[in-house]
Amino acid sequence: MSRKVFIAGNWKMNKTAAETAALCQALKEKFADVCPCKADVAVCPPFTSIATAIAELKGSNIKVGAQNIHWADNGAFTGEISGAMLKELGVEYVIIGHSERRQYFGETDETVNKRIQAALKYDLKPIVCIGETLEEREGDKTEAVLEKQIKGAFSGISADDFKKIVIAYEPVWAIGTGKTATPDMAEATHAFIRKVLAGLYGALAEETVIQYGGSMKPENSRELVAQPDIDGGLIGGAALKADSFHDLVKNAIG
Ligand code: 13P
Repeated sequence: MSRKVFIAGNWKMNKTAAETAALCQALKEKFADVCPCKADVAVCPPFTSIATAIAELKGSNIKVGAQNIHWADNGAFTGEISGAMLKELGVEYVIIGHSERRQYFGETDETVNKRIQAALKYDLKPIVCIGETLEEREGDKTEAVLEKQIKGAFSGISADDFKKIVIAYEPVWAIGTGKTATPDMAEATHAFIRKVLAGLYGALAEETVIQYGGSMKPENSRELVAQPDIDGGLIGGAALKADSFHDLVKNAIG
């Protein structure tokens, strides 16, 4: 098994460009002791801070991603950002289908699929988010929900393209709530996700990086990432400070 730990910070709607410059300078220093051989690390700032993050993190071990992408190449889509715009800046990853976008901005499995195709077209690596709500978990629907999200997201995506995909499993009830899935619960769900992926892409599923997201912190990152099917994390709150993001990554890689 050749999966490398991948931990990305999703800054959500936080950090102006000036704040981004300060955080990136601190991150660059802190992460000098994290060998890129042990983990891939990325930060995903808001669009307005991406150019600053890329400039500040040049020469560091930290890559930069975006939080969304539109499916069209260009055109009359007020407020949207295209793959060409992201690629030109030097962005490497793009988060797609975060639960906050599904919940507040009408994202569906179909639009997630279109955004994935756009990211692939522009050679950006999609971090595809899936996850169930508390109501769905309590109603014993977690597996059905995840299977539907996965099949919808990857409809028409070739095996060759699937190799570039990262998945982030984020139980909605664990995001920003301080409630983390227990390592056992998260592992069982990750193993299920990998099984569904194997049904679609066979042995390639063994190579797919599946991140966990939802209240991951320095205190619990080791135990979570130690699980056989948990390959890293997508981090919200704990990624907004250099110390906590660094300690979370260091603890995760042991
Ligand atoms: P928190 O780490 O703040 O729970 O957020 C997780 C998340 O939504 C990352 O995308």
